[in-house]
Amino acid sequence: MHIQENISLKPYNTFGIDVTAKHFVSASNIDDLKQILSLKEHPNKLILGGGSNMLLTKDFNGLVVHINLKGIEIISENDNTVIVKANAGENWHEFVLWCINNGFGGIENLSLIPGNVGTAPIQNIGAYGVELKDVFESCEALSLETKSLRSFSKSECNFGYRNSIFKQEAKGQFIITNVNFKLSKQNYNLSINYGAITSQLELMKANNPTIQDISKAVISIRESKLPNPKEIGNSGSFFKNPVISKTLFNTLLENFKDIPSYPISEDKVKVPAGWLIEKAGFKGKRFDDYGVHKNQALVLVNFGGAKGSDILKLSKLIQKTVERIFGIFIEAEVNIL
Ligand code: FAD
Ligand code: EPU
Repeated sequence: MHIQENISLKPYNTFGIDVTAKHFVSASNIDDLKQILSLKEHPNKLILGGGSNMLLTKDFNGLVVHINLKGIEIISENDNTVIVKANAGENWHEFVLWCINNGFGGIENLSLIPGNVGTAPIQNIGAYGVELKDVFESCEALSLETKSLRSFSKSECNFGYRNSIFKQEAKGQFIITNVNFKLSKQNYNLSINYGAITSQLELMKANNPTIQDISKAVISIRESKLPNPKEIGNSGSFFKNPVISKTLFNTLLENFKDIPSYPISEDKVKVPAGWLIEKAGFKGKRFDDYGVHKNQALVLVNFGGAKGSDILKLSKLIQKTVERIFGIFIEAEVNIL
């Protein structure tokens, strides 16, 4: 365990924001983590995974703990299903590819999402009709207070849209150390009804799609819409899609006839925040070195030298403008630090 001083976090966050961590340490096993948590001289800690869901607005005057626990293993299997355990520091997309290469289905729709396996349960990552909760079996997490490991079952995690216990009651109290997934070995439950996937599979002439085909389709859709953080700094969707009452939606329809929506329950619908932001005039707007992506208005971008505070300021302007026009508050999905 080697604690470094005054480390730039630029390579560690996909927004590419250049702030400094007073101290920085990488943890590659649970004993390291326990030791780090016991360091009395470093009471202020920031847990860092792949840095793909955070906006760093200032230097961090504490200890950044970089989660680097590696390893994937098969825990049990039968003819139909397999339980795979992956440690928190595994890269999510590489884990998806490992599963596909081994014929394990269930997370192919979640291809190319950046970040770590251990962070995936926190906001219940989702894309193209699948959410982490659909394959989640359990996870283990280290309590920051007691420094002991605790297991969380699926029901205990209380997963919702971009939500879990780790964003609610248990926020900031645990470090997830590994996740167990229940995946299929045959009779895959393929999720191909999401519009863009259906048309991409047609384009690929994949009439009988495999899990590989779905992964390829998702990758190519994502590459056409979302900026690659290696080229343009970003954190994916900056805001969540708001869920609103049908009453408000019907009122909005009177003025905005083309407003899209997805049913959530009898009296609620989800509205794409990207549409609201585009209608509010922000899509493709650039201010100095930061702005709103030209292909996806939900994605705020750093063209190079932006500060986190610039992007935060823009996000607040967008929130205010969307609320003024539509009466809808769009909540940030990204963790602002
Ligand atoms: P980080 O940014 O490192 O951390 C996020 C938060 O979790 C921080 O508060 C951190 O302190 C905490 N944390 C990190 N690791 C742990 C741990 N082991 N235990 C406890 N707390 C921890 N998300 C989706 O859901 N769907 C998408 O389609 C999607 N597309 C994206 C596309 C792009 C281009 C980008 C840049 C992001 C996208 N995201 C998407 C968001 C992001 O990839 C996910 O939220 C991902 O799970 C974040 O993982 P991370 O390891 O990078 O988290
Ligand atoms: N739209 C616009 N203009 C835009 C962007 C979107 O009008 O600039 C409207 C269109 O009507 C479009 C609809 O929004 O049909 C949905 O757009 P898209 O399919 O791109 O998905 P999204 O709702 O913007 C969500 C997730 C993404 C996930 C995709 C695919 C959230 C906050 N975002 O985006 O997740 O990859 O669906 O399933 O739920 C992330 O969380 O970081 C993320 C990228």
